[in-house]
Amino acid sequence: MNNNIYTTFDKIKDRNAKEIYLKQQGKVIWFTGLSGSGKTTLASQLEKRLFELNYFCQILDGDNVRSGINKNLKFTEEDRLENIRRIAEVSKLFMNCGIILICAFISPTNEMRELAREIIGEDDFLEVFVNTPLEVCEQRDPKGLYKKARAGEIKNFTGISSPFEIPNNPFIEVDNTRPDMDETIREMLKKIIPEIKFDPSNIL
Ligand code: ADX
Repeated sequence: MNNNIYTTFDKIKDRNAKEIYLKQQGKVIWFTGLSGSGKTTLASQLEKRLFELNYFCQILDGDNVRSGINKNLKFTEEDRLENIRRIAEVSKLFMNCGIILICAFISPTNEMRELAREIIGEDDFLEVFVNTPLEVCEQRDPKGLYKKARAGEIKNFTGISSPFEIPNNPFIEVDNTRPDMDETIREMLKKIIPEIKFDPSNIL
């Protein structure tokens, strides 16, 4: 064993038993997109609908996580990668309890999203690209951060002074400039529910 670490994952009650208990399949729904693209709003609307349908979810969101477990991280490329690494590990812990994660992080590069996919596992990682154009995000500017970034008051701001790479092959791509968010959520649910719904053959 490396560094005197002896893991006991095999002794922890297995994921399958917990999924049977919760009557759902644990998955990670991973939103990626620019700041102000609508990730947080979509994530909370999605959680609300899933809860009404008796699915048990947990949201992890950029500003919240960065005010707690990741409060020591900044916005350099290196810190963003570490931000995503920790979030992916935490997501995996929840997922192994049968919980559906709804993660909302800019996660701006392919490298970061691939790291999350690798940690969580290809089959359990459902990538949702919130494709809101930079001009729209900047015009909305709900936190006033684009204005500050343009004025040079915030360094490494995604889309302005730090890159955002378009995801190659997302599970879902959302056009969040449409006025009817309910319809957007409905379309997302059609794709997501088959992935999370309880599969009775798991009992056998
Ligand atoms: S990520 O790039 O590391 O995935 P994360 O989603 O955790 O970012 O945090 C993004 C949030 O942090 C933004 O919504 C915004 O409120 C805030 N923020 C502060 N500084 C920056 C910055 N330089 N670039 C992007 N977002 C920033």
